[in-house]
Amino acid sequence: MRYTVITGASSGIGYETAKVLAAKGKSLVLVARRTDELEKLRDEVKALSDDSDVIIRSVDLTESKQVHDLYDSLKELDIETWINNAGFGDFNQVKDVSVPKIEKMLRLNIEALTVLTSLYVRDHHDVEGTTLLNISSGGGYQIVPNAVTYCATKFFVSAYTEGLAQELMQSGAKLRAKVLAPAATETEFADRSRGQSGFDYSKNVAKYHTAAEMAGFLDQLLESDAIVGIVNPEDYSFELRGPLFPYVGVNR
Ligand SMILES: NC(=O)c1ccc[n+]([C@@H]2O[C@H](COP(=O)([O-])OP(=O)(O)OC[C@H]3O[C@@H](n4cnc5c(N)ncnc54)[C@H](OP(=O)(O)O)[C@@H]3O)[C@@H](O)[C@H]2O)c1
Repeated sequence: MRYTVITGASSGIGYETAKVLAAKGKSLVLVARRTDELEKLRDEVKALSDDSDVIIRSVDLTESKQVHDLYDSLKELDIETWINNAGFGDFNQVKDVSVPKIEKMLRLNIEALTVLTSLYVRDHHDVEGTTLLNISSGGGYQIVPNAVTYCATKFFVSAYTEGLAQELMQSGAKLRAKVLAPAATETEFADRSRGQSGFDYSKNVAKYHTAAEMAGFLDQLLESDAIVGIVNPEDYSFELRGPLFPYVGVNR
């Protein structure tokens, strides 16, 4: 069995990605805090594919010990793809942010993603057919008003993952690294970012994708040789690209 790990699998893009990959017969490790949602997803995955093994890990990735324990608990598995998808936003000017919320956002969007990436790269650098995919955002390539802190976390994800992809290619590694940059996508993201429920995308957002569409784009990125999969902010088309950040290209 070769597994794909998906963090943030209990809703939105992660949930739909699990179904897309299960339909291709992949075995999955589903990670999030809400066990009931992960169990519901496990049942849906099992209905899609008899061949898929599904492992659930109920983990709070803002807790450093739980991040390390998660990775250690999967040591015996053959993990071909690791997807760091869990993340959340905050729609506030910097002067108005809740500092405890921002601290959690930094721990999830940056710290957990970096720790899990580092551990996976350490162990899979030379393993043929392996891929590390981090979820950034259109806000990881341009700054969005009222979301400066969130965008900064996603600039980190984009720069870090693109740099890693370049480093791996330069060193002849077998592992590939990729970054997905969704634009507005109909998920629980808006409610969590606003701190209140009931956001209606159809009434409030001119253009957006469904989570199922975004999972399809993620799969296209996985199947391609591209490093970056990004939604064009003008027409919302999905583009497969090389790295977008400048890279000096010399080992120091
Ligand atoms: N939706 C958009 O418009 C959009 C646009 C650009 C980028 N993105 C990015 O896409 C990714 C997926 O978000 P989404 O849109 O699918 O939103 P979502 O529906 O809110 O999903 C977020 C997922 O992350 C998990 N999560 C949150 N806090 C966690 C924690 N402390 N520990 C473990 N898991 C945690 C949630 O599960 P639990 O609550 O069960 O833990 C959930 O499964 C995020 O990185 C987001 O920044 C989204």
